Amino acid sequence: MFQNEDTIVTTGIDVEKVRKDFPLLERKVFGKPLVYFDNAATSQKPYAVLDAMDDYYRRYNSNVHRGVHTLSQEATEGYEEARKKIAAYINAKHSHEIIYTRGTTESINLVAATFARKFLQAGDSILITAMEHHSNIVPWQLVCEEKGAKLEVIAMNEHGELLMDDFEKKLTDKVKLVSVSYVSNSLGTINPVEEVIRQAHAKNIPVLLDAAQAIVHLPIDVQKLDCEFLAFSGHKLYGPTGLGILYGKEEWLNKLPPYQGGGEMIKTVTFEKTTYNDLPYKFEAGTPDVAGAIGLGAAIDYINSLGRDNILKAEDELLEYAMQALGSVKGLRFIGPLKNRVGSISFLLEGFHPFDVGEILDKQGIAVRTGHHCTEPVMDFFCIPGTVRASLSFYNTKDEIDLLVKGLEKTRALLGMS
Ligand SMILES: Cc1ncc(COP(=O)(O)O)c(C=O)c1O
Repeated sequence: MFQNEDTIVTTGIDVEKVRKDFPLLERKVFGKPLVYFDNAATSQKPYAVLDAMDDYYRRYNSNVHRGVHTLSQEATEGYEEARKKIAAYINAKHSHEIIYTRGTTESINLVAATFARKFLQAGDSILITAMEHHSNIVPWQLVCEEKGAKLEVIAMNEHGELLMDDFEKKLTDKVKLVSVSYVSNSLGTINPVEEVIRQAHAKNIPVLLDAAQAIVHLPIDVQKLDCEFLAFSGHKLYGPTGLGILYGKEEWLNKLPPYQGGGEMIKTVTFEKTTYNDLPYKFEAGTPDVAGAIGLGAAIDYINSLGRDNILKAEDELLEYAMQALGSVKGLRFIGPLKNRVGSISFLLEGFHPFDVGEILDKQGIAVRTGHHCTEPVMDFFCIPGTVRASLSFYNTKDEIDLLVKGLEKTRALLGMS
């Protein structure tokens, strides 16, 4: 989060110490120490997470909820304790408002499919923004097509900021749900979601927040936000891949029909009729990712042990440094806002295709992402093939940013543009 140029921040994070918590940060790539700037795609995992998952598989691997034996009880306890930690982390009112999914993508698909089945009709519309990740576009396209509904898009300006007057114009009575990214993964923009929610609620329209990026960089309080749904992935929050979260207000989760059918989500089954389980199990068909949930719980313990505020402050400081340092690189053009943003920094180097920049940086041990970042409409809006994206984490250092700057200068030199 970087909201004010004048902000003076001190960090309570000893970066050299925390780096030792992440085994992968010791890796070398092409003989050079790894500089990992692809955190918006996925973060690295601390020992605390790896050990918790390893411990589950070695010591109490068992299926949850279905056994009276000790291992099953221990596994169930670990799985449910993690749910409580996640609920507390986002200040959900009840832990049964936390649904385990495979990731943000599945969380959004769950809401799209079940909401549409119950509430969407021909002529209705769903409102999203121009900066959505594909996973907050395509699920809605699928259900809109099926129901004869329309997907409406709130426009943004050339700085990658949402146009709130366009939102007001498009928030008509036809809109049945507003689904917006809290933070853009390809631009870094922090969207004014409080205002989006306020205006939507004034018309009794529910709001889903795609918090895949926001969960890492902003303090999230779902009761304060008052959103109906919030989706995120564990793997961006230092947890394992394959485990995501859907938060839903109890009353809304109760209103929606089940998503998938199978074991666990039922109360009783006969060939004539099935009754469904209570929350959260109604939405958790089949054997879940027990190790994943325990891993995410451990990630949250780890974050809490460092202090979430300390992490966010460290990120702020690093972002400010990175924006200044990158801004000094000749021919570098930022794509996205300069303020009110997080450290997912997209840019172009004049005269270079983003892929070439990414490849040359990789040879220097620097991992950045290049391409459209699953936001093709954003790239179309800026009429560019993609960007180079350096996305920061609290375990990155200013020295690493200096290496990135040097790497970019070397890239220009290599291709005869110094
Ligand atoms: C804003 C945003 N939404 C959704 C997703 C999809 O997350 P996942 O692939 O973990 O389901 C991502 C992943 O990059 C994202 O950044």
